[in-house]
Amino acid sequence: MRIVVLTGAGISAESGVPTFRDADGLWEGHRVEDVATPEGFEADPDLVLRFYDERRRGVASVTPNAAHEALARLEREIGDDLLVVTQNVDDLHERAGSRNLVHMHGELRRALCLSCGARPEWTGDLLDRPPCPECGERMLRPDVVWFGELPYDLDRIERAVIDSDVFVSVGTSGAVYPAAGYVALAAAFGARTVELNLVPSDALVPFDEVRAGAATEVVPAWVDDVLSAR
Ligand code: OAD
Repeated sequence: MRIVVLTGAGISAESGVPTFRDADGLWEGHRVEDVATPEGFEADPDLVLRFYDERRRGVASVTPNAAHEALARLEREIGDDLLVVTQNVDDLHERAGSRNLVHMHGELRRALCLSCGARPEWTGDLLDRPPCPECGERMLRPDVVWFGELPYDLDRIERAVIDSDVFVSVGTSGAVYPAAGYVALAAAFGARTVELNLVPSDALVPFDEVRAGAATEVVPAWVDDVLSAR
């Protein structure tokens, strides 16, 4: 049985990483257009670099929770039949042990060189304009996908969604495409669809099953059910 799990900010919320769409509409006090668009970066690169440096440090100080761990456990049991597609730029899935994982919106722990296109792993800050380890130019930006940019690995993700028997959405509001469209794609190709969310989203295509609750409770319980049904 092939399973694709799409995760969003909700899976990391209980680790202490804030979600995006809070009541005030701001992301950690900033307008999304200022810190998550190429135009925002062009207008004020220091602000944007500092913003992601803070996010990178923040994520380094938190730990994976029971939901990340449950998905890693599922991978240990069923191997490559599980693909986790995350919209999150934190590294909590891999720190929990997930390996068959796609970061469709990029990673805080990677930089992108605007001169040569290299995507080196990056744990330090970018504000001080360090040189690219590949080409030496000081043109590194965070390797996160901003609004108006193309997410990573779309072909691989779409193929996996089409081929999946079960498609599961965890902790995502379904507000950002193309990720928000995967439930419809999965359903169109015959997958069973499941949503695990604190507050179920208003999906255009209804999920076959919805389990409402905190990720640290509903994800381990769902993994238990999948494994006991084998
Ligand atoms: P959102 O902030 O839009 O949605 C967070 C979701 O998490 C909501 O559906 C909540 O109900 C749910 N949630 C909150 N706490 C939870 C918990 N403890 N357990 C389970 N669910 C919980 O975040 P995303 O849907 O991930 O894109 O946002 C998608 C994309 O929009 C992000 O990847 C980012 C952002 O702009 C880019 O940066 C390109």
